[in-house]
Formats: sequence, C-alpha cells, structure tokens
Amino acid sequence: MEKRKIAYSAIQPSGTFTIGNYFGALKNWVKLQDDFDCLFCIANLHAITVPQVAAELRKRTYESYALLLATGINPEESLVYVQSEVPAHSELCWLLNCTTYMGELSRMTQYKDKSQRQGKNIRVGLFDYPVLMAADILLYQANIVPVGEDQKQHVELCRDIAERFNNTYGNTFTLPEPYFGLAGKKINSLQTPTKKMSKSDDNVNSYVSLLDNKDTIIRKFKRAVTDSDNRIIYDRENKPGISNLIEIYSCVTDKDNDQIEKEFEGVGYGDFKLAVGESVANHLEDLQIRYKEFLADKSYLDKMMKQGAETAQSVAYRTLSKARRRLGIIEIKK
Ligand code: TYM
Repeated sequence: MEKRKIAYSAIQPSGTFTIGNYFGALKNWVKLQDDFDCLFCIANLHAITVPQVAAELRKRTYESYALLLATGINPEESLVYVQSEVPAHSELCWLLNCTTYMGELSRMTQYKDKSQRQGKNIRVGLFDYPVLMAADILLYQANIVPVGEDQKQHVELCRDIAERFNNTYGNTFTLPEPYFGLAGKKINSLQTPTKKMSKSDDNVNSYVSLLDNKDTIIRKFKRAVTDSDNRIIYDRENKPGISNLIEIYSCVTDKDNDQIEKEFEGVGYGDFKLAVGESVANHLEDLQIRYKEFLADKSYLDKMMKQGAETAQSVAYRTLSKARRRLGIIEIKK
C-alpha cells in the first residue's frame, strides 16, 4: 500500500475556539483524517508568547483538547497531543533559531500587528513565534499544513527555513505546503468585517464561539455590521459584512456564493442574518453535546493526552536527532 502523506497543524489554547478557527482550520482537519496521516497539537507554548493566567491556561488546555475531539478528530486515528509534552519542539526551535535571520522574522505581519498591540515591552517569544511553529511542523516531516489564511506567511517561512537548512547541512526536513479549504480561509469579525475574527478580541460580539448557545449565536448575527444597500451579493471589497455572512453560510451548507445569492434574492438583511445564525447554531448543536461528554471524562482525556505525547515524542525525536547530528551536536550513548 502507498504510504500516506502527513498533515500537521496546531491551535493555541488561548480562548474558546471561534467559528473562524472551525471553518478556517478544524473542519478541514476532520476531513483530512480520511486521506492523510494526521497530527494535531494544542500549542500551549505559543500561547504564552502573550500574557496568560496560569490556572486559566491549564484549564483551557484540557478544554481545547476536548473541543478538538468534539469537532470529530479521532485520537485513535490521528495523533492529538499537547506541545509542551514533547520537549523536542523547544530544542528544535533553538537549533532553527541559529539558522533563521532577524530580517525574516521582522517581516512577519502577525508579529508586526501583535507587537504593536503589546506596546513597549515586546517579548522575545512573540518575535520567535514563527520559528517554534516551524519546529512543530518540521519535526513530523509534514507535507501539508491545514491552516487559515493568516498563517500562510508562517508556513512559507517554515518552508524557507527548512530549505536553507537542507541546502546547508544536508537533507533533513520535508518541505511543507499550506493547505486551505474551498471556503472559510478567512472568516472576519462580525463587528469590523474587514478584520479577522479572533478568539482574543475584546468585543465578544465580534466573534461566535463554538460553545455559544443558540440565542447568543442568533443575537450576534443579528447585530452583525453590514452596509445599507440591502442586496445579498458577494463583494468582499464593497460589501465586506454581507460577504462575510455569505462565506459563513457557505461553510455551513457547502453551497457556493451563486447558489446563496439566488436563495436569498429579494430577502432583507434581517431575515438573512437570522438564517445564517440559525444554520450555524444548528450545525454546532451536536458538537456542543459531544464537548460536554468529553470534558466530563477526564480520565479518557488524560489517557489520550498521554498516549498522544508518547507517540509524538518518539516520532519527533527521530527528526531532532537527525538535525542535531547535521549540526555537529554530540549525542552521548546512555
Ligand atoms: P490559532 O490558534 O490562532 O488558530 C488556529 C487555526 O485557526 C485559523 N484561524 C482562522 N481561519 C479563518 N478565519 C479566521 N478568522 C481564523 N482565525 C484563526 C488559523 O489560521 C489556524 O490555522 N500559529 C498558529 C498555531 C500553530 C500552528 C503550528 C499551526 C502553532 N504551531 C504549526 C500550524 C502548524 C495559531 O496561532 O493558530
């Protein structure tokens, strides 16, 4: 049998996941399980590049793991683990730091945005974030990295880092490609529809969390910012609010934009927002039930986390060891 290709991705446990995370990434992760060997990681070391409250981060790491399983990721089939449980990530990050240029990291748009928001004391970790992400991906020799559009630049940098390492020290890493679904690679804020929907946004009305109840979801969609021309047409440039709602509806229903425009021809914005809200709420209903069940079964989560970490460690160690050898780092036999 032909060897399956490897898909790798990760998510930060930095808040309850939004429908942006879900339609941009998680829904594709679930689908990819049929055709790829998949590894999915809770990136808690990335989460601490911005301030976190320790007890909350601990709790959210469990919740995030349960939420991944609730989306349909099967930990018996895919490897699902917590990043900090595999020390090879931090070590490879250091090795790659020694081959990555300051200029490359300074060009990352996410760093520019986040550092602006962080103000005066910008943390080194925030600057180095893409190198840790490259280490995540390269340790598992991933072929594709299913992400939303905001992570495309980081995956491209990862590829550059890997290519340079291979050229300088000998072939060590597989070169990864970003992977996007047909719709949903950029779900925007419901309040500022030109901006990405984000789980760390201060305005709770700007995002829909996967755990919001039906009334809340519908209320948030009803309040979504739109233009006033009252035609349901996809036009990102001139009608970002309506286009974003069409995109979300497309993710839920798998209909394309033309079909959606036809379906809502002559319908007012109020009714359209209600239809989108209801479709999202219904879509999330089963996921929310499964989430509660998984979260209540802590011993199952512990078992899966342990199993995931053990397997991830042994896979990651093989690549780490190869990279060490290439760089001349000795490994003393124990
Ligand atoms: P994070 O936790 O910000 O987001 C997880 C995934 O969700 C996608 N996403 C979106 N997609 C569409 N529309 C949105 N509004 C939206 N918001 C988030 C993100 O693109 C991402 O795919 N750096 C990563 C985590 C990471 C990682 C990795 C990813 C760490 N190591 C290795 C891939 C490979 C991040 O911050 O994702």
